[in-house]
Amino acid sequence: MSSMSPEQIKAATRQAWEKSAGGWNRQTPQIHAWLAPATAAMLDGAHISAGMRVLDMAAGAGDQTLDIARRVGSGGSVLATDISASILQFAQENAQRAGLDNVETRVGDAEQLSLDEASFDAAVCRLGLMFCPEPLLALRQAYRALKPGGHAAVLVFSEPQHNPCIGILMSTALQHAGLPPRDPFQPGSLLSLGKPGLLDALFREAGFTDVTTSRIAAPFRLPSAEDYLSFVRTSASPIMQMLGQLDAAAQEAAWAAMKDKLQAFQSPSGWVGPNELLLSQGTRPAQ
Ligand SMILES: C[S@@+](CC[C@H](N)C(=O)[O-])C[C@H]1O[C@@H](n2cnc3c(N)ncnc32)[C@H](O)[C@@H]1O
Repeated sequence: MSSMSPEQIKAATRQAWEKSAGGWNRQTPQIHAWLAPATAAMLDGAHISAGMRVLDMAAGAGDQTLDIARRVGSGGSVLATDISASILQFAQENAQRAGLDNVETRVGDAEQLSLDEASFDAAVCRLGLMFCPEPLLALRQAYRALKPGGHAAVLVFSEPQHNPCIGILMSTALQHAGLPPRDPFQPGSLLSLGKPGLLDALFREAGFTDVTTSRIAAPFRLPSAEDYLSFVRTSASPIMQMLGQLDAAAQEAAWAAMKDKLQAFQSPSGWVGPNELLLSQGTRPAQ
């Protein structure tokens, strides 16, 4: 990926999420349970309350969009944006099914949204900003779209040592694909914004003040390692991107090797995969 231009990275990411859209949507109940405390902290971090207009970037199938829509109520609204039209279609359908008529969707790259200046009270991005090869551009878009005094809050994965399952998936996938180990902080990759201090620096560079970052434990609790792998196989597009280059037998060998290693997180009460997220937040200063 490092030899690819930002536009090439985004084209590959879009294509991968177009393929994983249905899988990510089907996994919504598991994802909701996994991320519920972190999502609530993100919404609090962006100071989201009744009546607000909120920008949700890289919204995916809209799980957090629906939480926002409920929080802002009928007097407020959410614009859910994503680079993948297919996944955003699920967000729209999920909102309709939930009876929420205050959700709009717009397909768009977070780095080039070109929304009306100062038209939102708050902006969020849950597990999407790290896929942007130039995340500063996306933060500048959020800053521009916010009204003075508005708040942004973003959730990303922290360092590799606090997200060991991702490390296992990536290193095993690379090894089986015959690829050399990668810099875990490579732009546009799952852990790209986990480097300590990086996200704060980007928020400040985009113009935000009162920037803070906190760590949130987000253990993924499932009955077994097989359940985690079935989540990954249907919805974790970065891993699928790496394994996509292998023939079927080699892919199966890679999945079997991952399963062996992931068994380490099995406990008598079920499988618990440790994850840690960073929640960064900042304010567009009031003029
Ligand atoms: C891990 S999913 C998260 C979706 C949703 N926010 C959630 O937490 O359920 C990552 C999402 O980021 C989107 N994405 C990746 N790169 C993007 C970009 N440059 N602009 C907008 N969306 C992007 C993908 O299409 C995908 O829907």
